[in-house]
Amino acid sequence: MKRIDLILDVDTGVDDALALLLAVRHPAMRLRAVTCVAGNAGLDDVVRNTLGVLAVAGATGIPVGAGAERPLIAPHRPSVLFHGAGGLGGIAVPQARRRALPHAIDLMRKTIAASRAPLTLVALGPLTNVALLVRTAPHLARRLARIVFMGGSAHVGNATPIAEFNAWGDPEALAIVLSAGCPITMYGLDVFFDAIVTPADVRALADSPKRAPRLAGRLLSYLNRMGQEERRVAALANTTLGDAGTVAAVIAPTALKTARLPVGIVLDGHAARGQTIVDRRARKGEGDHGGPLPMTEIDVALGIDAAALRRVFMDALLGH
Ligand code: BDR
Ligand code: CA
Repeated sequence: MKRIDLILDVDTGVDDALALLLAVRHPAMRLRAVTCVAGNAGLDDVVRNTLGVLAVAGATGIPVGAGAERPLIAPHRPSVLFHGAGGLGGIAVPQARRRALPHAIDLMRKTIAASRAPLTLVALGPLTNVALLVRTAPHLARRLARIVFMGGSAHVGNATPIAEFNAWGDPEALAIVLSAGCPITMYGLDVFFDAIVTPADVRALADSPKRAPRLAGRLLSYLNRMGQEERRVAALANTTLGDAGTVAAVIAPTALKTARLPVGIVLDGHAARGQTIVDRRARKGEGDHGGPLPMTEIDVALGIDAAALRRVFMDALLGH
């Protein structure tokens, strides 16, 4: 099995917690560092949640760094409506016995510089930390095998009708990350909701005698309830894996259908701020890709093999 050396940047977050559990438990993943950023919750809560989830997973040796406590320019707007005030929807995780390292960007820089294997950086929150890495150590960012970020969308949004939460949370940061000079994959809302587990999967996790799968079961039950509320339905059979789908797609890249497309992010204006513009035209029309919106060609996820991603998640969590 090919090992993937990984830095995970998180704003934990119910679905970030699932992503952490998957990254820790999957045998293909060598999780080298976890960095925290303000997003779904304030930085202190994100750090506390991240350390707590890693403790449940028995991964107390993985270095954790506390990063940006607010976006580069925008104010910090947490996702209280979806993730609850503390970020984990009221689900308690143990208070970790250790503290985070004082700076995430330092940790990223040192981890990349010390690694012989090219690292994959997976970002699951607003891209503030990653942008700071790109600006402070561009040569190290260019050394990355790939940046995979959960964020953006080629069609609709969730934070606004057209902007996805992580892109909208720090649009300037995403603009900087698009200039990183390494391969980039956008795992956006176009595929985000399609990576799912079934009610039987959630029951199997919740009934496990082990702590990590049991926590995953509780997190997924919460996401299922929130999904019902969002879609205004009385019952929702399957549950979206959220950020954990991004990690599953890194583990099983052939389960992700991507297209190399020009992507830009809207920084000005009110209504459109934070929207990712994905140019899917087969050929240019009257306007070209230049002008006021810089575009970078990146790999945009447009489809997934949902059964394959579900297997990756369930096998790792149940230890098959
Ligand atoms: C993204 O926003 C957050 O609520 C989730 O953790 C995910 O990273 C989805 O738009
Ligand atoms: Ca997230």
